[in-house]
Amino acid sequence: MTLDVLQANVALLAEKERLEQERSRLIELNRVRTEFLARVSHDLRTPLNSIIGFSDLLLAGDGGRLPRKSLDYLNAIHRNGHALVGLINDLLDLSSMELGRITIRRQPFDLGEFLADVRAATDPIISRSSVQITWPDVRRLSGQSVIADRRRLLQVMTNLLDNARKFTTAGGRVSVVIEPRPHELHLVVSDNGPGVPEQLRQAIFQPLSSTTTPRHESTGLGLAIVKAIVDQHQGTITVERGPDGRGCSVLIHIPTQEDLP
Ligand SMILES: Nc1ncnc2c1ncn2[C@@H]1O[C@H](COP(=O)(O)OP(=O)(O)O)[C@@H](O)[C@H]1O
Ligand SMILES: [Mg+2]
Repeated sequence: MTLDVLQANVALLAEKERLEQERSRLIELNRVRTEFLARVSHDLRTPLNSIIGFSDLLLAGDGGRLPRKSLDYLNAIHRNGHALVGLINDLLDLSSMELGRITIRRQPFDLGEFLADVRAATDPIISRSSVQITWPDVRRLSGQSVIADRRRLLQVMTNLLDNARKFTTAGGRVSVVIEPRPHELHLVVSDNGPGVPEQLRQAIFQPLSSTTTPRHESTGLGLAIVKAIVDQHQGTITVERGPDGRGCSVLIHIPTQEDLP
């Protein structure tokens, strides 16, 4: 080997060493960041539970006897407490997903009961808005069982319905499809809002991709979490125009074969 080649080899080895050190440093930094996020989120929930719990008690008990202004203030505390819990749960989810801790527990469940879960979970959000929502017929779903993570899929539907409500204005219409197919569960949430421009249809699944203003109560974490849950199920998610060529349709296919890991 000539001296040149030897020198080049030494330089390459040094560079390789430097890159390896840099890589370890970044991995460590990422771990610290994620753990910090998880710990802070956790510590935030304890005092919040007390704020929500006590305002709950006040609203249920003395709510009727409070002066109008005090009741307004109390409702605002209660509402914002819930909004904060939602945000913190999103943060916790995202940080645990980054740590690779999100686990899917597949168990058989009844789709009629799942629909009831989704309706119960989203009713408080939907009933305060003016959107009109079309649900699947519960009689067609009851007695049909699939194998997937029911709690996580409920989280998926709540996120999608929250978006559908949020991005449609007065006169908004939203429709929900929950449909078992052979070895697959199809979930669709469509709305007649502004839709998602084609060039953004990948980007919206990235964390913090929110395009909205604070007025919209956005964190930009919802779809990232939805995507992570779908990925864990080895499913697919796509965003298209709504059925009538307007608005937005989010389509999810979840494999439900029993032989999946
Ligand atoms: N139904 C929808 N209609 C129009 N745009 C949507 C819809 N759902 C999601 N988006 C777009 O995707 C972005 C990311 O959504 P998401 O992750 O749920 O965050 P957030 O709801 O906090 O804004 C939104 O800010 C919005 O730009
Ligand atoms: Mg959202």
